[in-house]
Amino acid sequence: MLIRTRRSWELPESAATPESVWMNRRDWLKGAGLAGLGLAASSLAPAAALAAIGGYPFPRNGAYSLDRAVTDEEMATTYTNFYEFGSSKNIWKKTKRMQTDPWAATIDGMVESAMTLDAEALVSAMGGFEERLYRHRCVEAWAMAVPWSGVPLANLLKVAKPTAGAKYIRMETFLDPKVAPGQKQAWYPWPYVEGLTIEEAQNELSFLATGIYGKPLPNQNGAPIRLVTPWKYGFKGIKSIRRFTFTDQRPVSFWEQLAGNEYGFWANVNPNVPHPRWSQATERMLGSDDRVPTLLFNGYRDEVEYLYAGLPVRDARELYY
Ligand code: MTE
Repeated sequence: MLIRTRRSWELPESAATPESVWMNRRDWLKGAGLAGLGLAASSLAPAAALAAIGGYPFPRNGAYSLDRAVTDEEMATTYTNFYEFGSSKNIWKKTKRMQTDPWAATIDGMVESAMTLDAEALVSAMGGFEERLYRHRCVEAWAMAVPWSGVPLANLLKVAKPTAGAKYIRMETFLDPKVAPGQKQAWYPWPYVEGLTIEEAQNELSFLATGIYGKPLPNQNGAPIRLVTPWKYGFKGIKSIRRFTFTDQRPVSFWEQLAGNEYGFWANVNPNVPHPRWSQATERMLGSDDRVPTLLFNGYRDEVEYLYAGLPVRDARELYY
């Protein structure tokens, strides 16, 4: 996915606004619209890290089992994509400098209840913690199978209460080049952005992960909160989310801005639609050199195919890159 072409949208480094949210937790909670969430302040007050959400490992939801072996934990947590920290897969040590507690998460746009609150408060308000075994298929044709912990993304809508005209959720990663040296590479359109339709976000598979392998997410896998949409290529799974914006405009994602002919909005896994530069017919499981066939919608066809029936796309292939 390495793309180094400079484009007209290139951001000067001076445009990168540092995070202005390093307030203490008490200040965030004051502004968090607790009444709107119907939560007692006491349920949010403990100065606990997201890591301290009780219950790890959460009960596994047996509806999401797999027919392939779970990937070795060390492999899945040391071979990662997080371009904010560099374009190599071996960036996990560099991510340690990222402070994930406290972590301000903002909900805004076309919602009844715009708010900024701590990630821990947000996922607690969403509720429904569980563990799920999911396939993961990177657009680069490597794959893994991992146990995610977290909450259904559909529950975000119960907290945010989107207004009738909202059609999409736009998600944005933190922006802080002092912490993330990759963000000094101004030819990338930082911050990382991804998006889903409201219907996709409400699909049972859409998941906001807080943990992996029965433990809180390590930074390199997207702490403290990241998206998991297992029927789509992995680049849709935006890490370390700062902002959820409900909108009637289709978001233009980070990769789509860079190369819309290679990385589109829908990005549904399809072995029959090759990437312009390589085949998507097979995948390499992390920890092995063997290639196995890739499945339509990454094996989740029954759960998601209805989302794309009759969509007005120019070319059916648009749904699969
Ligand atoms: N999110 C952010 N913010 N930055 C990234 O570079 N990479 C994406 C996705 N989410 C990325 C990101 C890609 S290309 C993939 S395949 C997955 O994260 C990888 O997730 P993993 O590293 O936890 O396996």
